[in-house]
Amino acid sequence: MNYTVVLPAAGSGKRMKADKNKLLLELFGKPIFVYTLEVFQQDPSCEAIWLAVKEEERSMIEQNVKKYGLTKVQGYATGGAERQDSVRACLESIPPCDVVLVHDAARPFIEPLVISRLAAEAHAMGAAIAGVPVKDTIKKADNGIIMETVDRDQLWMIQTPQAFTYELITHAAQSAFEDGFLGTDEAMLVERLGQPVQIVESTYENVKMTTPDDLVYGKAILESRRQ
Ligand code: C5P
Repeated sequence: MNYTVVLPAAGSGKRMKADKNKLLLELFGKPIFVYTLEVFQQDPSCEAIWLAVKEEERSMIEQNVKKYGLTKVQGYATGGAERQDSVRACLESIPPCDVVLVHDAARPFIEPLVISRLAAEAHAMGAAIAGVPVKDTIKKADNGIIMETVDRDQLWMIQTPQAFTYELITHAAQSAFEDGFLGTDEAMLVERLGQPVQIVESTYENVKMTTPDDLVYGKAILESRRQ
């Protein structure tokens, strides 16, 4: 199933303890966001890539897009204060298409097989998101005192990509904006409309580069893939 991918890339380096956008940090000499873009550049089903960027970082990002031959990048939108604003800016810019994938530019290790399953499920179901089963025991606590041990058989850690039909995600994003609803992922915007969302099992390697320890893990993943 062909799709357009929207990549929010307008975040900061706060939790990474970096003095710049963490996506510009390099792993083995290449910026993190370039690894992410390469996955989509190499996927024949990806028709177009759109990026949400900060205005002041746009020319640096464009230079890298050129340098690494990322010819599927078709446009840029200006990112907003929240991730949801950045995604909405992109959604307002892209031409209508069948399926839209939203993927954090900070997740460079997404598997192509997961992407194609998500695009197919979104086409069939309307909405499909990547996730992995929770590995640890999960407890709810109040001031550190356990209130409940949650049955983890029903728990998933949700990632991106999150895939939708164009109609559904543009409607859901507009509706959230009008209602002042802020979600932590795109699926929440669709869930609040009462629409079903299918989870597609992803891999634990699809980690979001967030804190400094993720860079160590990221390098280890890249090294293991080189062998
Ligand atoms: O901060 P966090 O890692 O959760 O952000 C997830 C993704 O959303 C990153 O790729 C980041 O660049 C992007 N983002 C954005 N605009 C914001 C905040 C985050 O595009 N205002």
